[in-house]
Amino acid sequence: MNASPIRCLVSAGPTREHFDPVRFLSNPSSGKMGYALASAASKRGWHVDLVSGPVSLPVPEGVELTRVVTGQEMYNAVSERFDACDILIMTAAIMDYRPKSIADHKIKKFELEMLIEMEPVIDVLATVARRKINQLIVGFAAETDHLEEYATKKLENKKADFVVANLIGGPAGAFEKDSNKVLVLRKNGQTIALGPLTKVALAGELLDLFEPELIRKVA
Ligand code: CTP
Ligand code: CA
Repeated sequence: MNASPIRCLVSAGPTREHFDPVRFLSNPSSGKMGYALASAASKRGWHVDLVSGPVSLPVPEGVELTRVVTGQEMYNAVSERFDACDILIMTAAIMDYRPKSIADHKIKKFELEMLIEMEPVIDVLATVARRKINQLIVGFAAETDHLEEYATKKLENKKADFVVANLIGGPAGAFEKDSNKVLVLRKNGQTIALGPLTKVALAGELLDLFEPELIRKVA
């Protein structure tokens, strides 16, 4: 008898926060890591829901895609699907702040000095993880420095089972690249270094780490 497939929820790409109809704040996340994970999970026969910010990547075969733009939309889409998933993988590079208001017209450039008042965006991972029942929670940590120290704090603060930490910025940075080198931190204190590998190969290695834990949970 076949067991029901593992249900995997992946978030990917950047989010955008507009301050007028034609301008927004964002980051250079390409979505490649999240799409590679979604594709690899689907190839393993998992049911994959992919919630994606704006990226220019083809939709992986067999994956159910939901497109979002803002952090709040990312939260709504992830939150709605969270209870039904066995594993949440948050690769999305969500903007931490958003403008307090969005002008309804294009702001003219003669407003030489412009101050944008900002407010925090909800922490999707930390918020949904608080209502976890049996889900495996995987966060990513993007750091320019103090990689292991900051990633360890994220593992604890976000109630994650794994945090996949990588360096961003500078020539070694992972944003927009096809390959990546990461440090995987586990809740049990174990630390595993992976890469440099292509994001496609890395996706396979990461799923190999998550799969035994999932099989234990859903068995
Ligand atoms: N994350 C999230 N919601 C946010 C910001 C981040 O769910 N509003 C998730 C990311 O998808 C990632 C993890 O939290 O899985 C860590 O993201 P990161 O930006 O590295 O950490 P932050 O907690 O936002 O802290 P900081 O940016 O200050 O390092
Ligand atoms: Ca952040």
